Amino acid sequence: MSRVTLVGCMGSGKTTLSRVLAKRWCWRALDLDTMVEEQAAERLGLPSNEKISIPAIFEDHGEATFRRLERACLDDVLAEEDVVIATGGGTPALDGAMTDILAAGPAVWLHADSETLVARTAGAGDRPLLSGLSRTEAEAVHAELSEKRRPHYARATLSIDVSRGDPEEVAGRVEAALKTVGVGPWSR
Ligand code: S3P
Repeated sequence: MSRVTLVGCMGSGKTTLSRVLAKRWCWRALDLDTMVEEQAAERLGLPSNEKISIPAIFEDHGEATFRRLERACLDDVLAEEDVVIATGGGTPALDGAMTDILAAGPAVWLHADSETLVARTAGAGDRPLLSGLSRTEAEAVHAELSEKRRPHYARATLSIDVSRGDPEEVAGRVEAALKTVGVGPWSR
């Protein structure tokens, strides 16, 4: 199967790593959050087809609408070939999502300690679940979401500690682990 899906909390580096892996393999990197932003207007039947930011989707249409769009876009990306998919932090907790992700190929859980995640998402104006929060409040949100989502993330095929190492080094570890399950461009 020619797709690999990256899952993990906000700040775990899914988007960056998807690009590094896709470049190494001459695959495409697909970012679910970006797809949601690009397709929201059309899927919501709005008059203008302009991109809508995630904070604006949350603000104007509510989180439930964002989750519905996220689920619909997930179905679409899972049908693509030769892709590394960066999901949103909440994607694996959507109804049936992890089952569908795993049916489409291996999933890699990028996990990090909470200090790393909090530091990487500090001042994140583009993440509505964290925006406007103090560091202490952000830590509490991270802790709560990690706890809630861990059972979903833990279903991933592989788990990689991303608390240390730069993206290239992490990509090397992901590749080595994927080779053990025989997925990637080398499996053809
Ligand atoms: C979310 C994570 C975000 C984005 C949205 C909600 C979450 O993606 O989908 O803000 O519920 O954890 P990243 O994990 O890429 O930041």
